[in-house]
Amino acid sequence: MEKRWWHDSVVYQIYPRSFCDSNGDGIGDLQGIISKLDYLKNLGIDVIWLSPVYQSPMDDNGYDISDYQAIAPEFGTMDDMRELLDQANARGIRIVMDLVVNHTSDEHPWFVEAKQNPDSEYRDFYIWRDAGPNGEVPSDIDSIFGGSAWQWDEENQQYFFHLFSKRQPDLNWENPAVHNKVFEMMNWWIDQGIGGFRLDVIDLIGKEIDKGITGNGDRLHPLLQKMNQATFGDKDLLTVGETWGATPEIAKLYSNPERNELSMVFQFEHITLTWENGDKWQPKPLDLVEFKQVLTKWQVELKNEGWNSLFWNNHDLPRVVSKYGCDKEYRIKSAKMLATTLHFMKGTPYIYQGEEIGMTNVAFESIEQYQDIETLNFYKVKTGSGVSHEHMLNAIHENGRDNARTPMHWNHEAHGGFTQGTPWIEVNPNYPEINVAQALDDQYSIFYHYQQLIALRKAHPVIVYGDFIPLLESHPQVFAYERKDQDEHIVVINNFSSESIEIELPSHLANQGCTSLIANYEAIETLNTAMTLRPYESFAVKL
Ligand code: NOJ
Repeated sequence: MEKRWWHDSVVYQIYPRSFCDSNGDGIGDLQGIISKLDYLKNLGIDVIWLSPVYQSPMDDNGYDISDYQAIAPEFGTMDDMRELLDQANARGIRIVMDLVVNHTSDEHPWFVEAKQNPDSEYRDFYIWRDAGPNGEVPSDIDSIFGGSAWQWDEENQQYFFHLFSKRQPDLNWENPAVHNKVFEMMNWWIDQGIGGFRLDVIDLIGKEIDKGITGNGDRLHPLLQKMNQATFGDKDLLTVGETWGATPEIAKLYSNPERNELSMVFQFEHITLTWENGDKWQPKPLDLVEFKQVLTKWQVELKNEGWNSLFWNNHDLPRVVSKYGCDKEYRIKSAKMLATTLHFMKGTPYIYQGEEIGMTNVAFESIEQYQDIETLNFYKVKTGSGVSHEHMLNAIHENGRDNARTPMHWNHEAHGGFTQGTPWIEVNPNYPEINVAQALDDQYSIFYHYQQLIALRKAHPVIVYGDFIPLLESHPQVFAYERKDQDEHIVVINNFSSESIEIELPSHLANQGCTSLIANYEAIETLNTAMTLRPYESFAVKL
């Protein structure tokens, strides 16, 4: 496999609205991010994935873009953006921009023009259809945010198509003029010195709606090859696609270097295991055996072809320590255990802001305290169809997107030091105990555990390129595996439960002296046939 710089990189995702507010307006901004670059450098990350900072009416917090080449005033100016790029690059950190081109905002000049002037060249930038004979919607495709994907436009007496909110009309990727405009814009950003793109819901751009196809259409991969050729293909950039429907077979199509598409994709198979019938508003407990099977399958399948991205959470998902660990008594132990489980796998790890200090889900008491458009839409849709208020509040607490979007906790001062003003969304009330200042002061904190994991990845090529061999596959509480190459052999063992449990190691590993690489209790110096793991105990050793 040809080596690439992003193979041994670790990416940190920033959701700018919630990261750090420098001017007291309650909204995080670019100067806030610049002020924390030394903190990120200290953590050891190589890349920042910046969620959208472009001009936007913020119907979906910036995933609804009205000008791809301007910065939203609440985040700063293009000069601030240039300063961020310069300051990050000076510290060896690259900035990956979020590319949202499945749709624009309804305030994008293309859509404004398309709506006002049916003869304009921009009309066909979007997807318009007539109503059925009785005024019905053209098809029964649903929006991912709830309700029909078709919105009636009174002025034009036609429906337009939107897979997200009605203020996010889908671009028509069947029109080559759209490609040219998007590619031009991407090249402009590449010229600004960015490190790559995270491609928002990219599996949807090959849609053929008259055939009822939205994700993974036949048109998708040729489109990505065209994009690659017209933009980043001959540059040394990281590109990661958000692809909810990807299987390992599909992921190879995207990420096999010979196909000239993307560096890697985010797959979500492990995430949706705790959603009953694929519905995030019906959470169900984690089955660890299934979880291991899925992650092992991805590790093995992409061994020689393609590349994995590794993540537990992002701005759309609940906080990992609340989801798969324990956010009370064993918060620190379990956060470290989850970090170790992920960071020893093969692929590029992603850390979501606040994960490195063990931030938790938030349980707001009232629906009014939530801000997310998806949460609020589904609350309405579901309670309207008979689901109880209590069920929904509970499901929102489990899986809602605002769990990840409450402001970052920098210290124990008001609003966790995120802002001098009033934050756009309330801060999680646990900030006095869980914050960056506290973490930096405590040599045993989750922060330093992440710092150590990142350093280990750089020091041991086996973590980046070695084989992944699962261990104890049917154990219901332990996630264990080996990593091996010609030079090194590492064993990683993680207890996913709050109980002490016994494990039995296979004979080829047992009764051997070893070197501890990382642990969340004491260092381990020998592996024995029978071992007792304490609650959430986790370690990696080198044989
Ligand atoms: C996926 C993004 O991650 C999410 O936050 C957004 O709402 C949708 N795409 C629509 O852009």
